[in-house]
Amino acid sequence: MKVHSRDEAYTLVTSADHRDYYDNWAKTYDQDFAMETKYIYPQKICEILNERTMSVDMTLADIGCGTGLIGVELRDSKWIIDGFDISSGMLEEARKKRVYRDLIRLDLKNEKDYPRTRYSAVISSGTFTLGHLGPNVLKKILNLCAIQSLCVIGINLEHFDALRFQSTFTDLKSQKKIENFEIISVPIYQETEVAKTKKALANLCVFNYIGIT
Ligand SMILES: C[S@@+](CC[C@H](N)C(=O)[O-])C[C@H]1O[C@@H](n2cnc3c(N)ncnc32)[C@H](O)[C@@H]1O
Repeated sequence: MKVHSRDEAYTLVTSADHRDYYDNWAKTYDQDFAMETKYIYPQKICEILNERTMSVDMTLADIGCGTGLIGVELRDSKWIIDGFDISSGMLEEARKKRVYRDLIRLDLKNEKDYPRTRYSAVISSGTFTLGHLGPNVLKKILNLCAIQSLCVIGINLEHFDALRFQSTFTDLKSQKKIENFEIISVPIYQETEVAKTKKALANLCVFNYIGIT
C-alpha cells in the first residue's frame, strides 16, 4: 500500500509538515513517485540549463534537491553541485547518489541561514509547487545567485497562476534584478493521463540575475 502521494504533498502547509512528510517518504520516493509517475521534470530543467549556460565557473545550487534527481541528470557534467533541502531523509538519499559536493539542510524560508556562497547557476524542480514554496521564497533564493548567474526555476503551472508568480517576475525585471526572462512550458510527467492538466505542466522560468537583492 502506498503511504505517500503527490496529492497529499500538495496539501502540506508548514515547514515542519514538509520536513516530516519528506523524511518519511525519502527511502521510497524515487521508486514510488519518480519511477511510477514517469517524472521527467529534472531532465527537462537540466536540458535547458546545459543549452543556456555560458559560464566558466560551474557552481550550481539545486533548490529543494530532494533525493538528488537533478544531480543524477548532471552526473557526467562539469557542474559542481550543492543541494539545499529541509529534509535530512531526502538529503541522505541524495548523498547516496555521490554527485553533490555539499548537501545543506535548511529551511529556504529563512534566508538568514543561507550560506554566503554565490552560485553561477541556480535551478529547481518540484519545489515551487502546490502546498510548497511561493514567490517570497523565490525572491529569497536570489541571495544565492552570483551576478549574471543563470536561473532555471521550475514552477508548477497551477501554482504559478494561483500565486501570481508573473507579477513577481515583472517586479524583478522592473527593479533591474533580472534580465533575459523567458518562460518555457514543459510536461512534468511522461505520457500520463493527467499530462495535459495544469497540475502536470510547469513553467520553466529562465533568467539571468543582475542585481543585488
Ligand atoms: C516534490 S520534492 C522535489 C524534490 C526534487 N527536486 C525532485 O524534483 O525530485 C520537494 C522538496 O522540497 C523540499 N522542501 C519543502 N519545503 C522546503 C523548505 N521550506 N525548505 C527547504 N526545502 C523544502 C522537500 O523536503 C522536498 O525534498
